[in-house]
Amino acid sequence: MDRLFIPGMTQHFAFRKRLCEHRLASALSSCVAPAQIIILGAGFDTLAIRMARQYPAVTFFELDLPQTQRRKVGILADIRHSLPPNCEFVEADLAAVALEEAMRGKASFQAGAITWVVLEGVLMYLTESEVRALFTSLRKLLTGSLTILFGATCTSDAKGNWSLRMINALLAKSLESTKWFCPSNSMPGFLNDLEFRLEEWMPYYKLQSAYRAEAELQNVPKEDENYYVVRKMTREESSAPSRAIKEIPLIPLSPLIPLEAK
Ligand SMILES: C[S@@+](CC[C@H](N)C(=O)[O-])C[C@H]1O[C@@H](n2cnc3c(N)ncnc32)[C@H](O)[C@@H]1O
Repeated sequence: MDRLFIPGMTQHFAFRKRLCEHRLASALSSCVAPAQIIILGAGFDTLAIRMARQYPAVTFFELDLPQTQRRKVGILADIRHSLPPNCEFVEADLAAVALEEAMRGKASFQAGAITWVVLEGVLMYLTESEVRALFTSLRKLLTGSLTILFGATCTSDAKGNWSLRMINALLAKSLESTKWFCPSNSMPGFLNDLEFRLEEWMPYYKLQSAYRAEAELQNVPKEDENYYVVRKMTREESSAPSRAIKEIPLIPLSPLIPLEAK
């Protein structure tokens, strides 16, 4: 997989999980007021279920397409794994339904709570106008402090070596082509238009280099699915000068999964 696909991508899935979980945990550990976490396009990720047990005072929501979520609910029932009381599943198509609509009637949802939204490996399945609509919807719906942690690819499926283009063509057949991408140098402007401020980021290569040895990084691109932490701007902040963008802190570890020697 590593040789055929974008070098490093298979392990990137593990690294990005670690990045998101660590960032959320550090946000929650310093949080004094009621907080909620909304994982959009959660798929089969176990993050919300595990963290809900660890943080019983925090409300967790998982949102995904009905077909994906029903499969997950079925698997959880098969293995007799009940959902923690502070973790709620919401079925919705982010491309078709405004978030306000999806969250309507959810008793535990608090519009004014400190909220972190996670979009891990999801935004490439939405078009640019759907991404804009989603961020606008989040800004309107969540009236308190809002932070979004998300991944965004930086190039189109048409770029890359022939094997990558071939895999992308196969993914397109199963309706998994990249619909939205944004180069990192365009990201601050894209977010500024939507009244969000880019605060932290983690480029693809940097994430790889935290966990892999030098020799394994030779073909790894500098950027691919980069990760970003952005905060909803207040009215005063929208005219304030931009601040330095920090790196998302990582858990320091020696290289995790060595590749076979060539
Ligand atoms: C590549 S998976 C990532 C899953 C999970 N976030 C993770 O990183 O392990 C993409 C997820 O986005 C969901 N998704 C794609 N398009 C969506 C849409 N329009 N509305 C809601 N969820 C969507 C898929 O069902 C899938 O669970």
